[in-house]
Amino acid sequence: MRFFVDTANLNEIREAAAMGILDGVTTNPSLMAKEGVKDVNAHYKTICEMVGNGDVSAEVFATDYDGIMKEGRLLAQLHSNITVKVPMIPEGIKAIRTFTEEGIRTNCTLIFSSAQALIAAKAGATYVSPFLGRLDDVGHNGMSLIASIRQIFSNYGIETQILAASIRHTLHLVQCAEMGADVATMPYKVIEGLFKHPLTDKGLEQFLKDAAKIG
Ligand code: E4P
Repeated sequence: MRFFVDTANLNEIREAAAMGILDGVTTNPSLMAKEGVKDVNAHYKTICEMVGNGDVSAEVFATDYDGIMKEGRLLAQLHSNITVKVPMIPEGIKAIRTFTEEGIRTNCTLIFSSAQALIAAKAGATYVSPFLGRLDDVGHNGMSLIASIRQIFSNYGIETQILAASIRHTLHLVQCAEMGADVATMPYKVIEGLFKHPLTDKGLEQFLKDAAKIG
């Protein structure tokens, strides 16, 4: 399972990359705005250079086919790590089909149903991003969406990868792994949380005490 960090914050990306377990980065317009990014393309180039061969999802702002194609082609030319992130709307699906024919990788975002995931996959999306935390927020079961998409993609040998998004805590991540999501994207804080267990801290404390007695 690959781990992406869901942030536009360069310090967080640097820290996550330094952990040695980072496979990529996802961003979205809200995350870019939160960091006060003005030159989006320069920011993406910096991120790409920070993640080695890692995959970097760069989201288009346009919502019409021509606009999505124009923005997406420019984003794809910025760096070979870029995957063009396109919203799950009819114009976006048309664009994903064309990007696929042009050999440009895509991530279909804002997926909230299995039908949407299937449509994106049929258009050739490299990734689909089901937002499980946002579904949980409104009283739906985000995890069952991951399970349903996994089942459908396995039924038909669909190669589109499931990029579980809107992950809020460790249990989300573990359940996504159990369901067979290909990738999980999560905030830096969630990645940090994966390392933690009170019994590890307690055990290490005791080992260190006992080691001091020996040497
Ligand atoms: C995914 O690509 C999105 O950027 C992200 O996971 C959304 O998460 P949120 O619901 O925490 O904003």
